[in-house]
Amino acid sequence: MCGIVGYIGDEQAAPILLNGLTKLEYRGYDSAGVAVYDGAEIRMEKVSGRLARLKELTDGGLTLPGTIGIGHTRWATHGSPSDTNAHPHFNSDRSIIVVHNGIIENYSALKQDLIRRGYEFVSETDTEVLAHLLDRYYRKYKSPLEALTRVMQKVEGSYALGILFKDFPGQIFSARKDSPLIVGQSPEGNFIASDVPAILQYTRDVFYMNNEEIAVLSRNEIKFYNVDEELLEKTAVRIDWDINAAEKGGYEHFFLKEVYEQPKAIRDTISPRIHENEIVIEELGMTDEEICRVGKIMIVACGSAYHTGVMAKYIFEGLARVPVEVDLASEYRYRDPIFDRNTLVIIVSQSGETADSLAALRESGANGQKVLGIVNVVGSSIAREADNVMYTWAGPEISVATTKAYSAQLAAFYLLALKFGLARGAMSRDSYQALLDDLKRLPEQMEAILKDRQQIQRFANRYLAADHIFFIGRGIDYAISLEGSLKLKEISYIHSEAYAAGELKHGTISLIEEGTLVVAISTQESLYPKTVSNIEEVKTRGAFVMALTSEDNRDIEKVSDFTVYIPKTNRYFAGSLAILPLQLFAYYVSLGRGLDVDKPRNLAKSVTVE
Ligand code: M6R
Repeated sequence: MCGIVGYIGDEQAAPILLNGLTKLEYRGYDSAGVAVYDGAEIRMEKVSGRLARLKELTDGGLTLPGTIGIGHTRWATHGSPSDTNAHPHFNSDRSIIVVHNGIIENYSALKQDLIRRGYEFVSETDTEVLAHLLDRYYRKYKSPLEALTRVMQKVEGSYALGILFKDFPGQIFSARKDSPLIVGQSPEGNFIASDVPAILQYTRDVFYMNNEEIAVLSRNEIKFYNVDEELLEKTAVRIDWDINAAEKGGYEHFFLKEVYEQPKAIRDTISPRIHENEIVIEELGMTDEEICRVGKIMIVACGSAYHTGVMAKYIFEGLARVPVEVDLASEYRYRDPIFDRNTLVIIVSQSGETADSLAALRESGANGQKVLGIVNVVGSSIAREADNVMYTWAGPEISVATTKAYSAQLAAFYLLALKFGLARGAMSRDSYQALLDDLKRLPEQMEAILKDRQQIQRFANRYLAADHIFFIGRGIDYAISLEGSLKLKEISYIHSEAYAAGELKHGTISLIEEGTLVVAISTQESLYPKTVSNIEEVKTRGAFVMALTSEDNRDIEKVSDFTVYIPKTNRYFAGSLAILPLQLFAYYVSLGRGLDVDKPRNLAKSVTVE
């Protein structure tokens, strides 16, 4: 959470910083600030609320002279989202200033110690501790680098830092531990940022910072150090993303654009891995013999990525006959899981920076487990720390609520399950071939569904004032219900719950009353009659039912009030089609309620705190 950016070069820094922060707003957007150094004075502007307020206040940065600066967009952890708690934070004599992404876990003890030493605090943040601690060590050692390494040894927790020292007008100091940080290099100047899109407009040459590394940027030079102040050699990586991928491209919201990019995300994820009708996943790093030796798969993730794991359980167990456990990363890391050498751990993450997922990966690795990462952001922490990484080629996902990364993760699981199924002899070559053909058809079928969004919009408009909405389904349809419900609640703020359709009668059905909307998903042929019975149960109690089913199940209209049909596909892949109308439904409810679809309240795209 939180985005940081820094620039040192020939141009006026503030407009570049604000531009970079615009691309990082997905990481947090409750307050924002910049600090710019013109060689005489460090000037700071910061405000609560959206970045647009800061832009207004500084006339797009033009009121702040200077060619060196740092900036921050915040997702509050310690202290409310107020002007005072917004970053940057100064030391007392305003000679050192800091922006920080992460959490200083021992900040309270450090703060008490600093107060005893006479330091005065103005904010409630953990970050202000860093500014005063840097001050303390800088006074003692007279070297900014030494002060920084001392601070790094003293603090516990996570950080990506951008720091200016008034005594060093030609330098930006930066360091990272467990929060993402990249350094960009260009002939016109150098940059730090939490993520690539922030600087893509200026440079494509990027250094990825590892944990406990320091970068010192000057106009024409970047030096890297470890905490022992030893110089490090690092090589820049060339970023080849299409810059337009991070822009809205004519859509009103990134969310809608990304919904429409899903067929491409699936194509890009599966096509490079299918060669002459054979699935080849080199990055899996496993021979067929090793695949056969896998006794269990453990999928660990958070949020929507966790939901792909719930779906993958049905798919792996059905197609490859391998037992699968799925766990929330925040639970897994503290539940003392039982490790065994024949278990394959799969960590799923769009950002590759989710703190709980990263910790789960490390916990697994420390216990000798082989870990495969399914990750969207190239070069992210999970991608770098997993034994093997299978990238989902969804491209940059900007909207806080995930859509295309979720779909690409499902596609990655389809490929893996098919590969495991064939290698383990759980399916015949003919079934494998038929499934592969269905998989290749998915993007086209998705395009067909996305052609007609008006009927969903009209329906959504009837439910703008709903208090509760329920999603029900069985098997894979239950996994889809989980994601449909999360999408709705995160962007529309309507309370919603997903239930295994057969479970409703064990308690939750008491919440169904006249007019309650129940979205019933029924794409699984063998479960169809069962789900229809569950629909009848809620209808009897007054529910209004939106059914989502395959196009040949027209008789569902006998029990539903509104029906959305999806094309017929293999039952294992139906989720990829069923999720589309649910994403559109969530979008139009959010839009109709006048909410900020791309940046829903209280959320952030990349959850880098526990
Ligand atoms: O970056 P990750 O995939 O690790 O993020 C996991 C969740 O935080 C994420 O899926 C979250 O639930 C989204 N807001 C869902 O739209």
